[in-house]
Amino acid sequence: MNEKPVLSASRVSCLYGSKAGCLDVSLEVFPGEILALVGESGSGKTTVLKAVSGQLKPSAGKVTYRDGQGLELDVHGLSEGRRRLMLRTELGFVHQNPRDGLNMAVSAGANVADRLLSGGERSYGRARSKALDWLDRVEIARDRLDDRPGLYSGGMLQRLQIARNLVTGPRLVFLDEPTGGLDASVQARLLDLIRELAAGLRLAAVLVTHDLAVARLLSQRLMVMKEGRVIESGVTDQVLDDPHEPYTQLLVSSILDS
Ligand SMILES: Nc1ncnc2c1ncn2[C@@H]1O[C@H](COP(=O)(O)OP(=O)(O)O)[C@@H](O)[C@H]1O
Ligand SMILES: [Mg+2]
Repeated sequence: MNEKPVLSASRVSCLYGSKAGCLDVSLEVFPGEILALVGESGSGKTTVLKAVSGQLKPSAGKVTYRDGQGLELDVHGLSEGRRRLMLRTELGFVHQNPRDGLNMAVSAGANVADRLLSGGERSYGRARSKALDWLDRVEIARDRLDDRPGLYSGGMLQRLQIARNLVTGPRLVFLDEPTGGLDASVQARLLDLIRELAAGLRLAAVLVTHDLAVARLLSQRLMVMKEGRVIESGVTDQVLDDPHEPYTQLLVSSILDS
């Protein structure tokens, strides 16, 4: 594979006051590839995801995004306006808590259409028809289009977040525990959907999960985090079948499952 990474992070550290959220984290994501970040609760996964997706400015290090034209952008060096536009159009972020990623005060259809309109789409009719198309693709019935998200189940909320993010055709999406807190059967269906969409659209993704089964199902490569640092990384199946670090061995034997 001779392709260049769509995202690279070099020695990223994030401090919360004097406390470290993540330390010296480097990563690369290639087109069409899903990279999983795993580790216990509090190990720094969400912090890394926010830093590499341009939402949290790191205390040190650099994040580079390679856009559709092959232009390399210093994510945290962009103007505020350019960074926000990039977040609304070329990148997607599926939050662990759907309330952080959706506008609960407007309809489901508006949640999807709004992202297109705020990303530069001028035609309301076109935005609405694309929104409908995406609600179909995530298996939300058309007669639920005008409902507020507050009326949706947990699984539907995550599917709605996915539709809202994918409607602009991003090249890279960030998923923070997308199936956390869902029933097993709902989780299984959602994982299938994410896998199908990612493969079909050749999306690159960074997936945060504490669930190694989710990482195994969705990701090609994996990084294990502990206390803010990456302690082991590699091809997902290899790391999970033959973990080298004692901490990863504990995780895999699910002694540390949280
Ligand atoms: N906004 C914040 N202010 C202060 N500390 C934080 C904040 N967010 C996270 N932390 C701390 O940073 C560490 C990493 O947190 P986080 O990235 O949320 O971990 P994970 O997603 O793996 O559970 C934890 O010790 C957490 O308590
Ligand atoms: Mg987290």
